[in-house]
Amino acid sequence: MKKEHLNISQVSMAFPTPTGSFLALDKVSLIIEEGEFVSLIGHSGCGKSTVLNVVAGLHQATEGGVVLDGKEVNEPGPDRAVVFQNHSLLPWLTAYQNVELAVKQVFGKTKSHSEMKDWIEHNLELVHMEHAMHKRPDEISGGMKQRVGIARALAMQPKVLLMDEPFGALDALTRAHMQESLMEIQNELNNTVIMITHDVDEAVLLSDRIVMMTNGPAATIGEILKVELERPRNRVQLADDTEYNRYRQRVLSFLYERQHVPVEKETPRLSVAGAEAA
Ligand SMILES: Nc1ncnc2c1ncn2[C@@H]1O[C@H](COP(=O)(O)OP(=O)(O)O)[C@@H](O)[C@H]1O
Ligand SMILES: [Mg+2]
Repeated sequence: MKKEHLNISQVSMAFPTPTGSFLALDKVSLIIEEGEFVSLIGHSGCGKSTVLNVVAGLHQATEGGVVLDGKEVNEPGPDRAVVFQNHSLLPWLTAYQNVELAVKQVFGKTKSHSEMKDWIEHNLELVHMEHAMHKRPDEISGGMKQRVGIARALAMQPKVLLMDEPFGALDALTRAHMQESLMEIQNELNNTVIMITHDVDEAVLLSDRIVMMTNGPAATIGEILKVELERPRNRVQLADDTEYNRYRQRVLSFLYERQHVPVEKETPRLSVAGAEAA
């Protein structure tokens, strides 16, 4: 038995909206082991990002809470690095400088200047960006920007890497490359990862467990699938592997038979400027 690492316990989340309180999550509970790769999958708007944001400390759960290595999470911290779908790099800084900013924040007091330089370069090498580290975001492709975002997150040496549809905006081939890199990195560093995806193949290929969420309101975990395919995993070989297809089938049937595809609709939100509420 590995030790409990991250405990998401009875997390409920109600958002105030112009038409009253909206219960997005209802008692979401999940215990994650160190080094585990967990994907969250579910239809758009079911509450995946909300779960991730609670773990990141960006949202405070209305009920329940999150404990990481025995410590309650109630604000963002470098032990939980987040990678969003849209890289969020600073456009006026090079790839190197973007990673440097995070590294200085975490290791500014403990690493020397040259140790930090080695560490930044090492992390950019991990994501195969060594050739373009001195380029700015507008000089590199979307996939490369995501790589830098991942390098920046890894360089913080987080206990947990949180990824919200990290490859969602990339074309299929780039996406496949990124999945390979992520598997390599995880194999090497054994990070704990929670990744949101809506891609069934991506979830099966990468995960130790796939957490399937029911539709909202009051979304919760509907089913958890343990993926026991051997690693390293090879997408080409798995394509006609019976086990692989059984897992895939299981997730598809949850999403398309047990949960109906919701009609796209936005809950009205209270925004600071009041501009979004419509
Ligand atoms: N700040 C907010 N205010 C009001 N409703 C919100 C807010 N954030 C998210 N929601 C609602 O909560 C539900 C879950 O959202 P989200 O976690 O973003 O879903 P997902 O990431 O699965 O697409 C949606 O119905 C969304 O409209
Ligand atoms: Mg989302």
